[in-house]
Amino acid sequence: MSAAASPTVPPSPSGESPPSPLPEAEAVGAPTEAAPRRIGNVVLDVRDLRTYFFTYDGVVKALDGVGFSVRRGETLGLVGETGCGKSVTAFSITRLIADPPGRIMDGTILFKGANLLYGLDREASFKTIKGTNRVKVVRRFRRIRAAQDRMMAVRGGGISMIFQEPTSALNPIFSISDQISEALLLHRGEAITQGLLKATPTARGVEPAIQGMLKAARLNDGPALREATKKFAEAANLPSLGTQAYYILRNAYADPDVKLPEIRKALKRAQLGGFRRAFLRSELTRLSLQTELKQIYMSEMRNGRIERAKRSLSASRRLRHKLTHFYYGLWGVRGSVRKPLKEETLWQTVRLLEEVSIANPVQVARGYPHELSGGMLQRVMIAMALSSEPELLIADEPTTALDVTIQAQILELMRELKSRIGTAILLITHDLGVIAEVSDRVCVMYAGNIAEIAPVKELYRRPLHPYTQGLLNSIPRMDDPDKKLESIPGSVPNLIFPPAGCRFHPRCPHAMPVCREHRPPMTVEGDGHLVACYLYNGPVYKG
Ligand SMILES: Nc1ncnc2c1ncn2[C@@H]1O[C@H](COP(=O)(O)OP(=O)(O)OP(=O)(O)O)[C@@H](O)[C@H]1O
Ligand code: SF4
Ligand SMILES: [Mg+2]
Repeated sequence: MSAAASPTVPPSPSGESPPSPLPEAEAVGAPTEAAPRRIGNVVLDVRDLRTYFFTYDGVVKALDGVGFSVRRGETLGLVGETGCGKSVTAFSITRLIADPPGRIMDGTILFKGANLLYGLDREASFKTIKGTNRVKVVRRFRRIRAAQDRMMAVRGGGISMIFQEPTSALNPIFSISDQISEALLLHRGEAITQGLLKATPTARGVEPAIQGMLKAARLNDGPALREATKKFAEAANLPSLGTQAYYILRNAYADPDVKLPEIRKALKRAQLGGFRRAFLRSELTRLSLQTELKQIYMSEMRNGRIERAKRSLSASRRLRHKLTHFYYGLWGVRGSVRKPLKEETLWQTVRLLEEVSIANPVQVARGYPHELSGGMLQRVMIAMALSSEPELLIADEPTTALDVTIQAQILELMRELKSRIGTAILLITHDLGVIAEVSDRVCVMYAGNIAEIAPVKELYRRPLHPYTQGLLNSIPRMDDPDKKLESIPGSVPNLIFPPAGCRFHPRCPHAMPVCREHRPPMTVEGDGHLVACYLYNGPVYKG
């Protein structure tokens, strides 16, 4: 953020910190001060992140110097009271902050060494409106669009997100299968298209496999049917055919032979005529261009350079232009040529819904969001986020809407994903029980600042920050059933006029004069244990 944009604004009515829309001068030794870039096994490194909302009442400083990192394959829990900025942190990382009114003002977000905030300072300029708390933001939409394009390289396979509100994250006018299919085609389109082109529906082993499936269905033997459908899929070299055959035969125990025409129809979708094959090949070219673009975007964000990438981009655009002509040529028959892709993604969707323990996945896939309960919708969101097998999964209150048994299944699923593909997880919740269950480290947030970061056991055994202590005192403990539960007095402050110094001081039982004036630096108080509080005087954390 350029200092030139720094506005002057009148003091707040409360006489506390002036509502400057731009980053305040850092406290001495503040947690996010310049530190060497570490990549190594760190997947995500967030530094000095400041996200503000420019509202009619003034500038909401939702995040003010947030910094933490997530290592490969670890689960970092992010906790804090409602309104402390957990979701805004998640939206800032994925660059999904609604702009306007929001804007990331400053900071660095390194994802595998690529700065997701590359070019941020050129995206907008800021002017204060004299005599008010308001700020005029002049946005440069061309640059903002370019930044959004670059995020294409990261969203999906890189970073995926489970949103807090499934009802508002899903589109009510599209079926569940259409919405998951969109994510599948966007992030795994190349693999899906290649899979379809490589299918062998007329291979010699297919007929015996069909007979095997019918036999298992006649025996009313569920596990044997699963096994037989797997063999069928292997013979036809298309895994989704197995899922489809299973759901065709599952309830046909009395007379599975009547389902034979449906099986044959399923096989036909994998028999591609010349026209459909040509379409899929062109689709592959388009998708490989997209992959090329993603690599260019990643290198731009890694190296902070744009020149060479620009040349390649224009070459890609020329090619894409050619392809667009091909697609317009297909206008009348587009639905027909796309049919195999559509059916393939439908059955892949069914498999994904099975993975998140949905009992009737075919009906759910064909249904619409309003037909599902909150818990089912949440599982649909999870299936969508897992579909791209991301390197970092940001889960914003993933289990809040679920009952306890489903909660356990979902947490188990996330754990399995972590061990199978090494996904790192940023788990946002205010449920300290869930955090204790699945996190490796915990990051405690308060009013847009980080209060404490520690390994999970250490945090529960030795909470240092008065806010963390307050949070832990407010939950029941198995080892001390007679303990009186205490609440933290007061509530999260209005972030238009946040308290000066330590933002927790109005509620802190240990507040000292220095706490009201200066923001406490983050200090190291043990192995991986960091805390931002004047009660401790360990060495200042340098990153
Ligand atoms: N669009 C917006 N306009 C103005 N202020 C906003 C906007 N979105 C978020 N905020 C403010 O940012 C702050 C942090 O909100 P956030 O949604 O991140 O809280 P949270 O920690 O996720 O809470 P919860 O646990 O309830 O989900 C709040 O003070 C909120 O009022
Ligand atoms: S810095 Fe001061 S006000 Fe803030 S938590 Fe520590 S003791 Fe309390
Ligand atoms: Mg939230």
